[in-house]
Amino acid sequence: MPEKKTFYITTPIYYPSGNMHIGHTYTTVAADTMARFKKMQGYDTYFLTGLDEHGQKIEKKAQEAGVTPQQFVDKIAEETKALWKLMDIENDDFIRTTQERHMKIVQKIFRRFYDQGDIYKAEYEGMYCTPCESFWTATQLVEKDGEKVCPDCGRPCQPMKEESYFFRMSKYQDWLIDYIESHPDFIQPASRANEMINNFLKPGLQDLCVSRTSFKWGVPVDFDDKHVVYVWIDALSNYITALGYGTDHDELFRKYWPADVHLVGKEIVRFHTIYWPIMLHALGLPLPKQVFAHGWLLFGMDKMSKSKGNVVYPGPIVARYGVDTLRYYLMREMPFGADGNYTNESFLTRMNADLANDLGNLVSRTVAMIEKYFDGVTPDGFDGIDEKEPTGVSLRQHCVQLPKLVEEQMDKLQFSQALAEIWKVVGECNKYIDLTQPWVLGRDPEKRDELAAVLLTLAECVRFVAVLIQPFMPNTPARIFEQLGVKDEALKTWDSLSSFGRLPAGTKVQKGEALFPRIDVKKELEVLNGPSEEKAAPKAEKPKAEKKPAEAPEGCVTIGDFEKLSFRTAKVLACKKVEKSEKLLSFTLDLGSEQRTVLSGIAKAYPDPTVLVGKTLVLFANLAPRKIMGTESQGMLLSALDEQTGTLRLLTVDDAGSIAPGSEIG
Ligand code: ME8
Ligand code: MG
Repeated sequence: MPEKKTFYITTPIYYPSGNMHIGHTYTTVAADTMARFKKMQGYDTYFLTGLDEHGQKIEKKAQEAGVTPQQFVDKIAEETKALWKLMDIENDDFIRTTQERHMKIVQKIFRRFYDQGDIYKAEYEGMYCTPCESFWTATQLVEKDGEKVCPDCGRPCQPMKEESYFFRMSKYQDWLIDYIESHPDFIQPASRANEMINNFLKPGLQDLCVSRTSFKWGVPVDFDDKHVVYVWIDALSNYITALGYGTDHDELFRKYWPADVHLVGKEIVRFHTIYWPIMLHALGLPLPKQVFAHGWLLFGMDKMSKSKGNVVYPGPIVARYGVDTLRYYLMREMPFGADGNYTNESFLTRMNADLANDLGNLVSRTVAMIEKYFDGVTPDGFDGIDEKEPTGVSLRQHCVQLPKLVEEQMDKLQFSQALAEIWKVVGECNKYIDLTQPWVLGRDPEKRDELAAVLLTLAECVRFVAVLIQPFMPNTPARIFEQLGVKDEALKTWDSLSSFGRLPAGTKVQKGEALFPRIDVKKELEVLNGPSEEKAAPKAEKPKAEKKPAEAPEGCVTIGDFEKLSFRTAKVLACKKVEKSEKLLSFTLDLGSEQRTVLSGIAKAYPDPTVLVGKTLVLFANLAPRKIMGTESQGMLLSALDEQTGTLRLLTVDDAGSIAPGSEIG
């Protein structure tokens, strides 16, 4: 039998200096979703997560808590595992850097580097940021209020002098530049690769400090017991020690290495795309196929972080709204790679709009109509289904293409886009119900076949959707299958989507509870945010509608004229140059309930259009669509023009994360 293709995916190993919050949950859910997706496609997958348990900060935290460092991390490790269980994370292993299996190999790796001359001992002088556990050279620090501060977190650093071991990174610099340039998929998004080359590699790599004598809580250097291995050699090695690298039992390593993708937050991309490749190269090992740096979940304007304490925890959200809702939100709300704001409001709005309304209604309407018109048993009707579709929309064709469309997005780790593809079909199904009006067909005995075709088409579409959302929402599909009466496991697989029309006639459907409750966003917000202090603002008297539309003076419009125009916020999902055009950019925009393509003659102002991805722009939304160079442009993006210099800039929305895409402007 041919061996299955393998897929190895990892998350960073997180610091257990506090409990994991929604930021860590974000990466872990993304990795889990990807692993489940690949598994569904038949890959032999391996998914690793874990904890990075050493370091001075942990030592300090434990001291403050009056426990040993080991006791401290043991407790958080248990809580982290419980959290991943709650989030339905199916990791294959959970590596902890305090485990013997890891420490022994780190010692071995360290010694090998030393023996082959990659590591040397020297005095080190630098600036140290305790909360970030980072050393910085004077040139790396940034200036804030006259003080030199940590470039990552903006807090003051302390001078520090130490005898340390150093890794000769500079030796590998040219090799790495070459590697990155010849492997365009290695660092994603691509803008991060440029950043690494221009900001770190081209200016010249500094040798990296890889041991410490100032604290004890780490892997001892076995040939020099004053030293413990300092953070990155210890932490990064987890990706191979977990697979048994360097032991007699390295079957997993031989099977799964190199990793297909390391998912990381953008603040640690440097360690994963510079130090880690160099370490691996020095060990004579192949590099991971890809390092994908995703953006940050922000809280207000700030990165949510344990050390800043501005965090949201998943527990209470899951308890109230269910794990699938949170997983869906995390994967849907922001394009993977861009930053996004976490807000309770956007969470609740998504839940209502996408889950309760779009998906929930579709399932309940479909099942209810099969109950009403066919006694709850799916009719025979797939023969000639296309001919009988009265709307001209071929849902059938769209569904057959859907797995491919989803796969294309997933292969780029564009979770949000993959869900958008699925939800396009959900939206089309709901429109299809409105267009075909099964309740009208149901009154006409002559139209029985047509009604059967419509309802079967819907039920089969729902099956497609249920299969495809499995990696994202591990619990909801089972509930949908139950309502649809799908018991046969073979109808729940990726392979079952290779053709349309497999849902057999004679299946007994069964109406169940609503998949997602419709909630009162305002009330729920009060629950989540705590009771509001403010008194309800006194309502302004509404001006009485004027009988006759007021005339406007020359050169002015009335408010009535203005109200005919629809301006809406639009979040940029993708943006690229239009081929053969110097001026045009093509935007894919998220308007909440729909996606639009809009062309804008602004290419010269944005030589790298990807910088616009994730921004929220202002769209003149009801401008009649026009065809430009073969593409229909569905609206116009507003921009400002400085006539003196010819500079063009797109208008954006302030604090866009708190405004749902598609919001009315006026
Ligand atoms: O950096 N938004 O651990 P860490 C998005 N131990 N992702 C976030 C996030 C946020 N606000 N906050 C955390 C470390 N994350 C090292 C890693 S790997 C060999 C060693 C996620 O506890 C994101 O994946 O600071 C980020 O990179 C990681 O947690 C940082 O976790
Ligand atoms: Mg961090």
